[in-house]
Amino acid sequence: MSPAIHPALAKLPAPRCSFTSDNSAAAHPSVMAAMLAANNGHALAYGADPWSEQTQQGFKQMFGADSEAFLVWGGSGANVMALVSLLQAGECVVCSDQAHIAVAETGAPERALGAKLLLLPSVAGKIHPEQVAALGRTLGSQHHPQPGILSLTQATEMGTVYSAAELKALCQAAHQLGMRVHLDGARIANACAALGGTLEALRSISLDAGVDVLCFGGTKAGLIGGEALIYFHTEHARRAKYVRKQVNQLPSKMRYVAAQFNALLEDELWLTLAAHANRMAQRLYLATRDIAGLQYAQAPITNGLFPTLPAACIAPLAAWCHFWEWDSSQSQVRWMTAWDTSEADVDHFAAGVRALLQHYTENGNAL
Ligand SMILES: Cc1ncc(COP(=O)(O)O)c(C=O)c1O
Repeated sequence: MSPAIHPALAKLPAPRCSFTSDNSAAAHPSVMAAMLAANNGHALAYGADPWSEQTQQGFKQMFGADSEAFLVWGGSGANVMALVSLLQAGECVVCSDQAHIAVAETGAPERALGAKLLLLPSVAGKIHPEQVAALGRTLGSQHHPQPGILSLTQATEMGTVYSAAELKALCQAAHQLGMRVHLDGARIANACAALGGTLEALRSISLDAGVDVLCFGGTKAGLIGGEALIYFHTEHARRAKYVRKQVNQLPSKMRYVAAQFNALLEDELWLTLAAHANRMAQRLYLATRDIAGLQYAQAPITNGLFPTLPAACIAPLAAWCHFWEWDSSQSQVRWMTAWDTSEADVDHFAAGVRALLQHYTENGNAL
């Protein structure tokens, strides 16, 4: 039985959507239409179909002729594929202590790689080039795994972004140690929208910054499901097709993943949708930042907000409109917007947060 809705919320209009995550959102209608259009007759499997060729050409137009895109099922799988294809024996993967590969992939990278993930302390999800450069002290020591891949996330797990200059400095620090750079871009569209919202901006935070392989997220950007792993250099892509199959990321009926991406790339739909999600996060921030008892460490940059609330208010609010607790030790929650979050959803949600917290303070900090 679902919990009763708190009386302070019961009479308010509930948002139509949740603030759980961008992967709770439906798929965009253009993506659905593209899937339906692709659902006609026979096509060769495993990527030898016209839809997959169109996706390949679409990404080449975005990232240049040397780039090669590999469509895969999911984000964790894309990360594992990238790491397995680029890590050599005796090496480790270096990432932030908040990285999805480190905290939310059930150890899949370690299992697949048989290698260590070396976690660097992060601030607001970000790490710094000096931390990478400091790894140079282990170079050549037979008692330490050699730094092989720097894995970064953009936008970060905390909704922050690396500027193009910050990413370039990180890539330089990694390359100076002979490392390759992987960018987990499950939310690269949101980062790009926050950093200028152009193709040039996208290139400046990936290829031009010195990233070697990018996971271009589709699932959180409006697809039913699918990600594109894009290798920027032919020599790195050489083993990718074998690794994709080995890590179970080769879609058999690839045309359906490709058709979704073709819809997302057309007229830069990915950017339009991400910019909208980011705007809805801003709107929610502006509508809630003055509420007594609620605190933000900073304004949202992309589509995630991480406020702290009175602990007693979290469960009743989440029962009314779902979201996840982020860090229970600080009574911090995560509210995420998506391409389909409407202004009315945001306004209704903000009104509910305000009503419940007001009730809580007026009631002597009790519900
Ligand atoms: C930053 C980041 N990377 C990767 C993933 C993994 O995606 P999937 O759930 O498709 O494996 C997620 C999903 O939440 C994510 O937030």
